[in-house]
Amino acid sequence: MTSPSEIQKSDKPLLFARGVTKIFPGARALDGVDFTLRRGEIHTLLGENGAGKSTLIKVLTGVYRRDGGEILFDGFPIDPRSPAEAQRLGISTVYQEVNLVPFLSVAENIFLGRQPMKPGRIDWKQINVRSAEALQRLDVEVDVTQPLDSYSIAIQQMVAVARALDIQAKVLVLDEPTSSLDANETGHLFAVLRKLKAQGLGIIFVSHFLDQVYAIADRLTVLRNGKLIGEYEAARLPRLELIAKMIGKDLSAVEEMSARRGAEPSRTEHRPFLRVKGLGRRGAVHPFDLEIRSGEVVGLAGLLGCGRTEMARLLFGIDRADTGQVEIDGVSAGLSSPRAAIAHRFGFCPEDRKTQAIIPDLSVRENIVLALQASKGWIRRIPARKQQELAGNYIQALGIATSDAGKPIKLLSGGNQQKAILARWLASEPRLLILDEPTRGIDVGAKAEIEKLMARLCGEGMAILFISSELEEVVRDSHRVVVLRDRKKVCELTGGQIDLAAIMKAIAAQAANDE
Ligand SMILES: Nc1ncnc2c1ncn2[C@@H]1O[C@H](COP(=O)(O)OP(=O)(O)OP(=O)(O)O)[C@@H](O)[C@H]1O
Ligand SMILES: [Mg+2]
Repeated sequence: MTSPSEIQKSDKPLLFARGVTKIFPGARALDGVDFTLRRGEIHTLLGENGAGKSTLIKVLTGVYRRDGGEILFDGFPIDPRSPAEAQRLGISTVYQEVNLVPFLSVAENIFLGRQPMKPGRIDWKQINVRSAEALQRLDVEVDVTQPLDSYSIAIQQMVAVARALDIQAKVLVLDEPTSSLDANETGHLFAVLRKLKAQGLGIIFVSHFLDQVYAIADRLTVLRNGKLIGEYEAARLPRLELIAKMIGKDLSAVEEMSARRGAEPSRTEHRPFLRVKGLGRRGAVHPFDLEIRSGEVVGLAGLLGCGRTEMARLLFGIDRADTGQVEIDGVSAGLSSPRAAIAHRFGFCPEDRKTQAIIPDLSVRENIVLALQASKGWIRRIPARKQQELAGNYIQALGIATSDAGKPIKLLSGGNQQKAILARWLASEPRLLILDEPTRGIDVGAKAEIEKLMARLCGEGMAILFISSELEEVVRDSHRVVVLRDRKKVCELTGGQIDLAAIMKAIAAQAANDE
C-alpha cells in the first residue's frame, strides 16, 4: 500500500494503464495497451479512425469495463464502473459527442447530478452564479439560464469543459474537443489547458488536427488497430514520422502523399450549373452572388460563424431565402425546400452529422444507401445485391473500418460514422454536392482519400461546394474560393490567386475595416 506522502511525489505517474484490453463483438478495440499520464502534462492520443482512442478513454473513465489489464490512479488500482465514479475519483471527461442534455439550461448542465441544495430544494441562485463564473473563466459570456441547445455547438462544448473544470478534476480528458471550435475558441481553450497543466493537472487530449497537437502536447501516444505503437516526446517526433506511425506506412510513402499537387484546373468549364444572384436571408447571410460550374470545386472559407453553414443551408433549401434569384442550367428555379433541392440533384452532407445525419440503429449499408433510395422514391427499392455492392464500394474507397456492412452504424468509431455519411451523399450521385466540413474528425490517411475522391468526382462532372476550416485543404482542393466574413461574401479568388496568405488577408482585411 502506498502512503499519502509518496503519492505527492511527482515522479509517480498520475494515471498508469498496463495491458488494457477491450473486446467488442467483431472488434478487438484495445489489445494490451499501456498508457502513462504524468502530472502537469498534456498528453495526446493519436491514431486513425477506429484505432481505439475513444475506447481507451471510455475504459479509463468508467464508460466501459475493461476485459483485461490494470489501471493505477495516483498509485492505487482503480476500476471505475461509471463515469460518475471516475468523476468522484477526479477523472473528468468531455466526450467526442458532447453528451449533455440539450433542453436543460446551461447552468443545469454544468451541475447535472450534483445540484447544490438549500434545505429541501435546489439552490438555483448558486447554480446560476457559479455556472456563469465557470464559463467566464473560459471567456464565454452567455445567459446560463437559457437552454443549452439555444447555443452553438462551440458553446456547448465549452459548457462541457466548464463542467469538467468545476468538478476540480486531477485528470481532464478531452476527446476531440476542438473539432467544432474556431481558431479563437481553440486558442482560449488551449490557454485554459496550459493554466491547468501548470497547476499540475494531467490532461489527455484526442485530436486529428496535427497543428494543434504540436501546439499543445508534451507527449504523444500512438495507437493503431487497438495496439500501442509507441509513446513519444512531441518535440522529438517530426510530423511526417508521426503520420507514418499512425497509418503504418514507411516515411517515403508519407512524403509522397504530402507532396500531392493542388486542384487540377477544371476541364469541364461550360455554363454554370448553378447561378444565384442576391440570395440572402435576414440574420443569416447578406445577399450574395455565386456561380458553380459542373466539374468545379468551389471552396468556402471563413471563420466559424461567418455564415458558411448558413449559406449552404440556403442553397439546399433548409432555410428559405428572403431575397434573390436562382438559376439552374440557365433556367430560373426555386430552392424552397430540401425536397426541391434534391429534385435538382443537390446533395448536402451537413456539419453536425451526429445529430442531423446518422440513423444510429440502421446498418452501415442502410445508412449509406439512404439518400440514393430517397432520391429514387421509396417504392422503387434498390435491390439487396445492388445495395451490397454500392455500400461495399464506398466502404472500400473511404476505408470505413467495420467488420461488416450489416453492423449498426452506432457501433462504429466517430470518424468512421462520418465517412459513412459522406459515402451516403457520394452514392446519391448528385450534380452539386455541398460538403460542410467533410474531413472534420477524420484521420490523415482518410482525409487524403476524400480529397482524391473529390478530385475524381469533379473530373466526372460533379460540382462541389466545399466548406472547411482547414484553409490548407481549401487551397489544395478548390478551383475557386469564396471568402466570407461576418455573414458577408467579401471576395472570390480564382486559379493562381488562391493561396493561404490571400485567404487569410481577405478574412483579416475585412476585420480591420470593421473596427
Ligand atoms: N460499442 C461498441 N460496440 C462495438 N464495437 C465498437 C464499440 N465502440 C467502438 N467499437 C469499435 O472499436 C474500434 C475502436 O473504436 P474507437 O471509437 O475507440 O476509435 P477511435 O480511435 O476513437 O476513432 P475516431 O478517430 O474515428 O474517433 C472500432 O473498430 C469500433 O468500430
Ligand atoms: Mg473517437
